[in-house]
Amino acid sequence: MAQLIDGKLVSAQIKDELKAEVAELKEKGIVPCLAVIQVGNNPASSVYVNNKKKACAYIGIDSLSYELEESISQEELLNLVEVLNQNPKVNGILVQLPLPKHINEEAVIHAIAPEKDVDGFHPQTVGNMCIGSKGFLPCTPAGVIQLLKRSNIEIEGKECVVVGRSNIVGKPMAILLLRENGTVTITHSRTKDLKEVTKRADILVAAIGKPKFITSEYVKEGAVVIDVGIHRNENNKLCGDVDFDDVAGKVSAITPVPGGVGPMTIAMLMNNCVETVR
Ligand code: GUN
Repeated sequence: MAQLIDGKLVSAQIKDELKAEVAELKEKGIVPCLAVIQVGNNPASSVYVNNKKKACAYIGIDSLSYELEESISQEELLNLVEVLNQNPKVNGILVQLPLPKHINEEAVIHAIAPEKDVDGFHPQTVGNMCIGSKGFLPCTPAGVIQLLKRSNIEIEGKECVVVGRSNIVGKPMAILLLRENGTVTITHSRTKDLKEVTKRADILVAAIGKPKFITSEYVKEGAVVIDVGIHRNENNKLCGDVDFDDVAGKVSAITPVPGGVGPMTIAMLMNNCVETVR
């Protein structure tokens, strides 16, 4: 049976380490503060935003919450971001995505001051990550790297295949695996013979956005499989991009959904919030 890579456990360890660090900072009068903005009330976003606020409370990070009407204009949102950019008490700014269609996400991401960009989405932050300069790392890909490292899975020299090329996960995931000296391939919806490529992977990261897309036909015997997807199936049960039951018998290690990558994203966001005051 495959090793179950326990994101709940690893994220709890990271949060406890951060909690201890924040307690020490507090003695010096330093308390990081995260501003969280949600536009509209997409139920999935509400769950994520609440989990982020709960994690702040647990660790001892102050959080400011902005719940804005779906109908807010782009200009009003950009004005709020600018006010938070200028507020010295605010260390990090997070605008939960997706935003309503009438708001240009790129414009909002660009508006966040890079020194407060705890999501790691600003082009300046992305550029620093690509060239290996200091700066925030995007939370989900950084969470995957931590999960691998803390589960004693070596990346260096391994064939790493990322399925998906989004700006939030696929592309930065590939860059971070490369920074760890993996041999990295990015695949996507236009990749020819996808199964042949994914079957080369020692480490396969699925970030496709299609429930149970990766079946045992896509994986090599003994591979490590990381599932970034999160979906609700027909019975309202959570599942990932990987068909867990089909794949688990063939691989050496696999992340579950829920309890795999999801909690790591929040732990790494908290790490970025603490990083603003380190
Ligand atoms: N929506 C889905 N994932 C994320 C994330 O990591 N950050 C933000 N801001 N929005 C998201």
